[in-house]
Amino acid sequence: MPFQHICITGGLGFIGSHLVRLALTRWPGVRVTNLDLITYAGNEANLADCCGRPEYRFVRGDVRKPADALAALDGCDAVIHLAAESHVDRSILASDDFMTTNILGTHVMLEAARKVGVRRFLYVSTDEVYGSLPEPLAADEQYPLRPRSPYAASKTAADLLVQTYVTTHDFPALITRSSNNFGPYQYPEKLIPLFVTNLLEGRKVPLYGDGLNVRDWIYVTDHCEALAVVLERGRVGEVYNLGGGRGRTNREICDRLLAGLGKGESSIEYVADRPGHDRRYALNCDKIGRELGWQPTHSFEQALTATIEWYRTRRDWWEPIKSGAYKAYYEQQYGSRAKRSS
Ligand code: NAD
Ligand code: TYD
Repeated sequence: MPFQHICITGGLGFIGSHLVRLALTRWPGVRVTNLDLITYAGNEANLADCCGRPEYRFVRGDVRKPADALAALDGCDAVIHLAAESHVDRSILASDDFMTTNILGTHVMLEAARKVGVRRFLYVSTDEVYGSLPEPLAADEQYPLRPRSPYAASKTAADLLVQTYVTTHDFPALITRSSNNFGPYQYPEKLIPLFVTNLLEGRKVPLYGDGLNVRDWIYVTDHCEALAVVLERGRVGEVYNLGGGRGRTNREICDRLLAGLGKGESSIEYVADRPGHDRRYALNCDKIGRELGWQPTHSFEQALTATIEWYRTRRDWWEPIKSGAYKAYYEQQYGSRAKRSS
């Protein structure tokens, strides 16, 4: 491993917590600093097992604040920047934090990283930058960027900003664009954990529109392995797509979850569609396979079964989340939607 001390931002979130855990095991002796604000999506319980490790340091701070960024980057020679507002539906309800954290926060991290002189800066982008693709297209890294939600636009703005730092400042940045992740510790606002936990509670699952929107799903630890490989061996200035390999409709995901939890079709509630709902995401991931030899190692079916099992046995993790402010969010997001569909 060519780095001594990595700063991971957003390390108390879903993907970030898996990445911190992976970094501590994959790179023995390497120090890991986690910069996280602990928003509604950040959760110290996600990394309870790493807390006392001498190589691990947690800094509670805001990527929008230069002083916090510099404090976290003290002594670091690499950055993996994940901290973001990450949920499309929330960006439709209110997008201020998406703009400040995702765009300005990335700018602050870039500036702080330049000051400190890090040797690698990996920006974790998303396939949503390509927008909705018609069959049979799959976006490679040259495909035009056509974001269609406030979330996607904020990620695209930051993605482009990172690219300008490479060309303008000769800054050693790289970018990954991943498809939809799933796995343990995912906040129950995204499709899979929301549906699994609703079904475990004996509630219905709100399927948007006709349920035929297509997403490519990747197991979270496969994504984290890819981030590690790109940090270790990726070419500076390059973008790497990464995904699970094929698209599935939301209805297919829903049917698998229903089967996995012994529920029937009556548990589905078709609700009003998401405004501007992207119909289909599809990625061409040949480049990362060809150049870096990465490919996902988990089968979708086995990973989904393991994920269902994790939520079944970890009520202690998600039940406290699905109370309080979450209830208000759920009502705001789904209350009128369900009524409109009937
Ligand atoms: P998440 O919402 O689970 O976690 C985000 C983390 O960032 C939280 O711990 C939160 O506290 C922290 N954070 C938010 N605002 C912050 C701020 N201003 N300062 C410091 N920390 C802050 O997100 P996730 O699903 O783990 O996604 C992580 C990254 O990966 C994001 O950049 C997201 O755009 C990207 N991504 C996610 C997916 C996916 O399917 N989840 C797919 C592709 C790319
Ligand atoms: P989501 O997990 O929010 O990820 P993204 O919007 O970033 O792809 O949604 C995945 C798909 O599931 C998307 O097509 C929207 C759909 N969806 C529902 O049908 N119902 C829901 O309650 C949610 C949260 C998502």
